[in-house]
Amino acid sequence: MSVMQELAATISVLSSRGKGILAADESTPTITKRFQAVGIESTEDTRRAYREMLINAPGFNQYVAGVILFEETLNQTTSKGVPFAQALKGLGVLAGIKVDKGLVHLANTVDENVTQGLDGLPERLAEYKAKGASFAKWRATYTISATTPSQLAIDTNAEVLARYAAICQEAGIVPIVEPEVLIDGEHTIEQCEAASLPVFQAVFDALYRHKVKLEYIVLKPSMVISGKGSAQKATVAQVAEATVRVLRRTVPAAVPTINFLSGGQSSEQATAHLSLMNQTSNLPWNVSFSYARALQDYAMKTWQGQSANVEAAQKAFIKRARLNSLAAKGEYKESMEKEDISLVA
Ligand code: G3H
Repeated sequence: MSVMQELAATISVLSSRGKGILAADESTPTITKRFQAVGIESTEDTRRAYREMLINAPGFNQYVAGVILFEETLNQTTSKGVPFAQALKGLGVLAGIKVDKGLVHLANTVDENVTQGLDGLPERLAEYKAKGASFAKWRATYTISATTPSQLAIDTNAEVLARYAAICQEAGIVPIVEPEVLIDGEHTIEQCEAASLPVFQAVFDALYRHKVKLEYIVLKPSMVISGKGSAQKATVAQVAEATVRVLRRTVPAAVPTINFLSGGQSSEQATAHLSLMNQTSNLPWNVSFSYARALQDYAMKTWQGQSANVEAAQKAFIKRARLNSLAAKGEYKESMEKEDISLVA
């Protein structure tokens, strides 16, 4: 298969309507923090058991098209001795891999970051591909304050995201391009809109400069939303409208699919926002999810690291996956939150 054929095959799965991506690629320090918050010990084995539990939830492949893994998980086998990527393949689900190496201070800015990990990326991609990964993820973050995001941070992160995306495509790996305008802060939704617009615009300028084929990327943006500490909380309608407005102004129709991150929204909010966006007429892209917390929060709390809780945790996970699948078609209703719908096909 040629590189282009590989990219086309992968993107056609990832852009399936009504399916999304599970981000299960928390780095070890991040998953450890999340486990600790609910009283679970973080070891190689508990991390494996937890992630195995998620992918084995009955009905998983009806709602999830791909899973982003952390390198540790890509190198692990399930309790049955099957490598994770192969276990996913058996379910008809694609394996992806987080390839960035995290954030470092961007010199000559005040507390802004750039994402590192380009050195040796082609070699790492070849290795991940041999282990079964067909797509990758790279996250850049931007903070909102009176002076940020600065033009320097916007331009630098856009350049790096585009270089990563070009390298991935050359290797036959579909890149998830993730610019995250962080929810932390007291900003209003209007401030978030003003910050998000130049961020997304710069990303697409850079993708163009680097000749990235837009038909073979997944855009994973943050929603346009008021800050966590904002006194003026934006409504669901305001978030959906502002997010669609910014994306229409910045994201070419050639992009097949936009899969949002949840970024610290509650599980219910992330689902409601996604569904309302999908009720907008004539969206040029598939609009779906690539959530970590908004898919996993209830499942992780229910599991508690106990095998006796596996079934209940899988039910909690599938409920979120199914509600987000409905939201990706604009068919979610708040009343569904109270229903026991996890096992209904
Ligand atoms: O990079 C961030 C994750 O892939 C998405 O996580 O949905 O918890 O923001 P989140």
